[in-house]
Amino acid sequence: MSERTPVIAANWKMNKTIAEAREFCEALLPAIRESDAEVVVCPPFLSLPATVEALAGSDVGVAAQNMYFEPDGAYTGEVSATMLLDAGASAVVLGHSERRQLFNETDEALARTVPVALASGLLPILCVGETGEERDRDETDRILRRQIDAGLSRVPAERLADVVVAYEPVWAIGTGKVATPEQAEDACGFVRALVASRDESAAERIRILYGGSVKPANAVELLGREEIDGALVGGAALDPGDFAAIVTAAG
Ligand code: PGA
Repeated sequence: MSERTPVIAANWKMNKTIAEAREFCEALLPAIRESDAEVVVCPPFLSLPATVEALAGSDVGVAAQNMYFEPDGAYTGEVSATMLLDAGASAVVLGHSERRQLFNETDEALARTVPVALASGLLPILCVGETGEERDRDETDRILRRQIDAGLSRVPAERLADVVVAYEPVWAIGTGKVATPEQAEDACGFVRALVASRDESAAERIRILYGGSVKPANAVELLGREEIDGALVGGAALDPGDFAAIVTAAG
């Protein structure tokens, strides 16, 4: 891995009650004491304040799994950046493929959300990635280009390095079908090249994660790749021991 600080994020998705979130954090903290990685836990909204409280005094950050770009108003069911900051979040996952596929989140909405998150002081973790059919049709680069161009279109060049991108091939999410280290590295390298076409120094600094069936058994190999600056972990992040093993694999 490069000198970029790795980011290892636990995406709990729609899992864990308040009590379960607390229990996870209590088990996690002693297990990752030695790690230099930037660790982030992404609980559902309702367990977010309890997660913040359970992690207080540690370096572990807390991310929301989504937000809306408007500051307030008549948007039933939505949560703003200000509310997330108020609850103690330091980051937010944006454009996860489950949001895109199941909840119709669009590139256009993400183009508005990423800069709002950044300007508010949240670390945006922008997810991109192709479906299995798109990969089979050799469209991976085209899809990544479209998603990155849109998601970063309104981010000024001097803030590009403050975004984290997670390359998550849809076919590898929750399927146990992990991308090969070569496939993951190629795609992360392609994303970095896209950022370089906007700003070369930002491309050297931006963290690009891999996500999709990351487990303790494959983490060392994936995280050892030069272009892969960390992992966004779903299934294996529900267990503090497994997640701590992935954090430890990052160094
Ligand atoms: P997974 O999920 O690790 O269960 O494949 C990854 C993600 O959706 O972020």
